[in-house]
Amino acid sequence: MKRIAVLTSGGDAPGMNAAIRAVVRTGLAKGWDVLGVRHGYAGLISGDIFPLGARDVGGIIQRGGTILGSARCLEFQTEEGRQTALSQLYRHEIEALVVIGGNGSQTGAHALSQLGFPVVGVASTIDNDLYGSDITIGVDTALNVSLEAIDRLKVTASSHHRAFLVEVMGHECGYLALMAAIAGGAEAVIIPEEETDPEAVATELRAAYDNGKAHAIVVVAEGARYNAEGMAQHFKTHRDRLGFELRVTRLGHVQRGGAPGSFDRLLGTNLGAAATDQLAIGEHGVLVGLLKGQIATTLLAEVVANRKSLDLRPLRLARILAK
Ligand code: F6P
Repeated sequence: MKRIAVLTSGGDAPGMNAAIRAVVRTGLAKGWDVLGVRHGYAGLISGDIFPLGARDVGGIIQRGGTILGSARCLEFQTEEGRQTALSQLYRHEIEALVVIGGNGSQTGAHALSQLGFPVVGVASTIDNDLYGSDITIGVDTALNVSLEAIDRLKVTASSHHRAFLVEVMGHECGYLALMAAIAGGAEAVIIPEEETDPEAVATELRAAYDNGKAHAIVVVAEGARYNAEGMAQHFKTHRDRLGFELRVTRLGHVQRGGAPGSFDRLLGTNLGAAATDQLAIGEHGVLVGLLKGQIATTLLAEVVANRKSLDLRPLRLARILAK
């Protein structure tokens, strides 16, 4: 193996830069040439590919986002787009590719791998919904950003005896919401995996006030059936009967923009290094992730064929602790 490329794709995640840095420097240490691809699969199709040296990835481990840029590329979902990407890889004499990203990105990685190109995936998404890794790059930092917001909202909520609803990311997975609710001491949590009736939330909030609490915080995942908008509308419509309204804070992309904490710097570094190690032993068509605390590989075919399901047991704990 002599010449490899690395790209980041899909939603950016704090810690991606640490992974890029590790791929570049461990690749160089093996005597390889390492190239970067700008803007994910879009850059692969257009041939936006350039050499990366050790100094090019200096001073990035502490930075959020991705120095390579990212994209959600519809063209790469077509056969034609994939063939163009493949010919760019051959034109640049690239022998293997490292793809840092989540579900959509690894689906692309698998497609390239099925076309016969050596690819290794690195598990990265703040949603933590990728099969093949118990935790993915960016989750820990995004969670800490949510917690800072919740802690601040709790202060002002307590001053005014108010109820606040905080919407966190997670279009199909409630992991961020559930963990933020537990670690932030929220009174209620709403996730896509479990249907939650606004009236049930109202009962939980009423109980919080009846129990002497000065605030009530609800954490909701953006993908829940009743997301921030739906919940706030219900509480507004029935304000008189429910006795209070919900003020809404949507954290949105604020969660993705943070500088990576130690966990994501180390996870990005270890997974990036493990990806080049896989290529060095001739392994590809796999995702590198963290399973039961150990770096582990899972076939990309298996990754894309499975959905990681959320462990709902902590939901019970969240409810007990909210009393
Ligand atoms: O997949 C990560 C994620 O941050 C989701 O939580 C969110 O729904 C989505 O990306 C937002 O995507 P975009 O940045 O393309 O709007």
